[in-house]
Parts: sequence; C-alpha cells; structure tokens
Amino acid sequence: APESAIPEKYQLHSISLDGEEIPGCDPKRSPIDGFKLAVAELVSKQFDEKISKIYPAVEMNKKGTDFSVAIVRFKKGKPADLKVWADKVVDNFKPSAYLSSCSTPDNKFLFFQLNKDSFNYHLLRHISLTNEECIANPTNHTLAYGTTNEGQGKHMLIDFSSPNIAKPFHAGHLRSTIIGTVISNLYEANGWKVTRLNYLGDWGTQYGLLSIGFDKYGNEQELLEDPIHHLFQVYVRINNAKAEQKERLDAGETIPEEDQIHFQAKKVFKAMEDGEPTAIAQWARFRDLSIEKLKGTYEKLNVHFDVYWGESQVSTESMEWVTQEAIKKGLTCEDRGALLVDLTKYKMDKAIIRKADGTTIYLTRDLGGLKDKYEKYKFDKHIYVVQAAQSLHFNQLFKTAELMGLEFADKLQHISFGLVRGMSTRKGTVVFLEDMIEEATETMHEQMKSNEAKYAQVEDPLGTSAIIGTTAVKIQDMAGKRINDYDFDMQRCTSFEGDFGPFIQYSHVRLCSVQRKNPNILPPASINEIDISLLNEQKVNDIMYHLSTYPNVIKNALNQNEPSQIVTWCFKLSHLVGTAWETIKVTGAPSEEIAKARLFFYIQTRIVLANAMKLLSLTPIERM
Ligand code: ARG
Repeated sequence: APESAIPEKYQLHSISLDGEEIPGCDPKRSPIDGFKLAVAELVSKQFDEKISKIYPAVEMNKKGTDFSVAIVRFKKGKPADLKVWADKVVDNFKPSAYLSSCSTPDNKFLFFQLNKDSFNYHLLRHISLTNEECIANPTNHTLAYGTTNEGQGKHMLIDFSSPNIAKPFHAGHLRSTIIGTVISNLYEANGWKVTRLNYLGDWGTQYGLLSIGFDKYGNEQELLEDPIHHLFQVYVRINNAKAEQKERLDAGETIPEEDQIHFQAKKVFKAMEDGEPTAIAQWARFRDLSIEKLKGTYEKLNVHFDVYWGESQVSTESMEWVTQEAIKKGLTCEDRGALLVDLTKYKMDKAIIRKADGTTIYLTRDLGGLKDKYEKYKFDKHIYVVQAAQSLHFNQLFKTAELMGLEFADKLQHISFGLVRGMSTRKGTVVFLEDMIEEATETMHEQMKSNEAKYAQVEDPLGTSAIIGTTAVKIQDMAGKRINDYDFDMQRCTSFEGDFGPFIQYSHVRLCSVQRKNPNILPPASINEIDISLLNEQKVNDIMYHLSTYPNVIKNALNQNEPSQIVTWCFKLSHLVGTAWETIKVTGAPSEEIAKARLFFYIQTRIVLANAMKLLSLTPIERM
C-alpha cells in the first residue's frame, strides 16, 4: 500500500544512517526495530555518538519501560556529570510518531515510552499487509511477518529422521524428525533453499540377514499390508534363530557352514555388494515398500523429504576415493588388517574406515556420502540432526574431512539432542511411529470426550484428535532446550491444563472463534478501517509488545537451532491472550467501533500465532 495511506499523525520520519549498517536492525521486516532506532537517533544526537553504537545499547522491556539506555555505557563521570547528559536528552525530547515520552528517573538511565497508537498502528498494519502477500503467494516462505531473506541464494542440505529399515524407529529418530522439520522450516523462512534428505540405514550385513529371514518366515501379503511391521518381525525372528544357533555352536555342536545363518547372511550381503541382481531385487523391494509406508506416516506429522537417500546409495568410487585420500594424507594406520584414521591427537580415538575383510562401515559411508552429496547439491551448509549419542561419530567425520582438506569441511554441522526417557505406550515400548501417532490420537480423543457438550460440536473428532495429539507430542519434544533429556508422558502432554501442546491449539481456536461468534461485524479489510486509538488497554499493549518481539525470536531460534524459543513465545502469547478475553471483549464491547478495532487486533494476533505454529510444523486448527 502506498505510504500516503498512513494518516499523518502516524507517519514516521525516515532515519538516516549515513550508510552505516546495523546488524540485526530491520525496520522493514520488524517494525519495533524502527522505534528502537528512533531512540538510538535521539540519544546519538545529544551524545554525539554514532547511531550504530547506541542501537545495541537500547534495551527493550526493562525496568517497566518500553526502552531504556544506560548512560554509563557512553559517558563517564560523577553523578552530577551524568545528570548533565541525562537532562540534555530529556530537555531536547519532542514527542513523535515513534515515541511519546522520555524521562530519567535516576540520571543513570534514560527511559522512553512508545507512541502506543502509532506503534500499534504500524505493527498491525505490517502484519495484515504481509499476510495479504502470503495469501497471494502461498509458495513464498519469506513474506510472512518475522521472516527474512538473509539466506537468499544459499542452499542448506539437511539430513534428519534417517531411520533404519527393519529396525525400530526409536525416540532418537522421532526427535530428529520433529526438530529437523522445524530447522528446515526456519531456514526456509529466512530465504535459504532447503533440501530435506532422509538418509536411511539400509545397508550392511543385517540386510543379508533380513533376506535370509524373509525366505524362511516372510509372508508376501503381510509384507504388502504393513512392510515396516512385517520386516521388523522377520528381522527379530531371524536374529533370534541366529543367536540360538550361536549358542549351539558355542556348546560344541557342529553345524555345516552352509547351514549357519551367520554365514548365509554374509554371503547374501556379499552378493548385494557385488550387485548381484536377485539379491539386490529383493532388498530393493523391501526398501521401496518401507519408503512408501514411511511417507504416509510422515505426512500425518506434516513432515516431508525431497530425497530418500541412504547408506546403500553412497557410491563405491567416493568411498574408495576418500579412503585413498586419507592414506595419501598420512592420516591412517593399520590394526589387524583394518584401516583406521588416527584421531587420538584430537581426543577422538581411532576410527575404522575399512574393516579387515575389506568391507565398509558407517563412517566410510558417511565420508563417501559427503563427497557424493557435495558434488550433487553444492550445499553452502549441511546439517545432520542426530542424537547426541552419535557426537563422537560426527566429530570423527568432520575432523577427517577437515584433515583431508575437503573444501566443504567447514560447511558441516551436527545438531544434537538429548534422550527421551520412557517412551512407551499401552502396547509396550514404542518401536513404530504409527503406533505412537495412533496412541496420541486415542489419548487426545479421550481427553476431548471428557467434555461432552463441547465434544458434540466437533465436526471431525478423530481428525481433530490426530492433529492435537501430534501437536502434543511435538510440543513436549520441543518445549525444552533440545540438548536436555525429557520424560515421555502421553497422558501429561495431551492435557488441556498447563503449558502443553493442546493449550496452544486451544488459543488458536479461541482466536478463530472471535470472528465466528460475531458474524454481524464485518472484519475490517485494512488498518485504516479502524480507529487505533480505541485499543488503549494495558492488556492489548502487552500483547502488541509481545507480538513485536516475534521476528527476534525467529532470529534467535535460527541462530541457536532451538525450536524451544518459538514454543516458549507461543506459550507466553497464549497466556497473554488467555487473560485478555475477560476485559477485551468483542461481543458486548462498549461500542461498535471498539468491537471492530478489537476484532481486527484479534485477527492479526491469530495470524502471527498461526505462522509460529506452522513454523513448528503444527496444523493450526479452527475449532475443537
Ligand atoms: N540411521 C542412523 C541411525 O539410526 C542415523 C543416520 C544419521 N545420519 C547420518 N548421516 N549418519 O542411527
């Protein structure tokens, strides 16, 4: 919208920076930054300091004022000297569309208050205009309030979830799936091109074993119905049979080699490594069917991948190349026929890169895989979201890449996270993602049923339970710093009381209901259709102020790879909104004009909450 649409009293003068850059200051995308800049401009004039030096010293929301600046950060001297500087700023202060007042309670600090009407006007205007742009360009992730274009032109490759075929999808994979998705979203919201890669554990002797197992115990129909479940069962059976055989062998029994499961499995895997078509064909089917099934499950969590890759896909040439490079660079030593990279100097032990029988290992595949991936994606950054238990592995991987002088060695990052304790359901310890989602849905459904009257109004109770249930599991996972361990508690995390996922969904539903419950009020199409000065309650100011911090929260979440920052922000917003209903009413507001202004305010609040939820990969629901 043209600048002229802004009423004169809210027009903001432009602040000249004389070509200076202020890191993190972006008034075009974060309106509060402009107001903060106005403080810096004022102080800068009186203190004869650069704006860029003052700006970082402007503190928000401290000591009960909107902005404060500690004078001692710039001026030294006795209290009387400081008072001279303080008075200088206060005496020269003129109210503007940015700021309404300036004071110095103790001559140590300068206090500034926002021009509330103007601030509310600009923030709500910004939210509604950016939202219109988002609706018009649904595939552009960098239009919403709080997003940036910082990563423009850069490509981030992210490896997350990465479960193993025929093995349990454990809590580590669940966390990687949840956190990895949010980190991907965050990068995209900051202009990066993101490629989401699922690096399946789909190679190694165990897939030879699985193949033998399937020949013995497999069932075609069960495989097609539920490949993940069935392959897991087959795997467990053959593994048990193998263990049993080993006991017999250890007890002195003689079993011909060709009848030994261990030996058979090795032979099949060798055939797979040699690319023998029948061995490969069966394995490829298991893999394809598992991927199909996984895709369906991920979809229920709003998770998707651009590429399903895996250990099997790493090229032999790359693995051979990295091995030879390591030898050439003098990084290796031998031990009983195995080839190792010696990282003891870096307190990272010795890492095997080629086993005595010549076969490759997890680390070899990750090293070779890196080369393949860099050639294919030319990433500017590659992130692995994997549990902290694998930190040594990634330290070894990155160190080896660095010592080999690979050009992409400084573009790698391991984002780790703590353990989940006690992830179990009524059926026992969770090994399948499907079961976990099902249980979350059921538990949520029961919670909802406990309020009969409300339950009767829900259109699609099971669909709604699935969304709130998965929200509950995700929020439980992301509420704390990712490095912390936590206790999985389905009953607790699905509760409507307290800071859990359902509370955030509930707040969104309530914000949606304001509009629904007031069908007689036409929602204002733009900020200029309301009288902003009618929004003058403290509770509104608190919410506005909180909304203004959103871009900064996204920035911190991105810089620290910490989804919990956004979760905390959502809880705070939900609490603020929760206490506003009683007094900031739309239905029964003192006048129609006030009702309209409040409705507009609630709509913008809802938009920002919904954006935050989507970043967290949640589906904001409208009714419950
Ligand atoms: N499949 C592995 C596991 O379950 C995780 C793979 C992580 N990614 C990687 N590039 N190593 O432990």
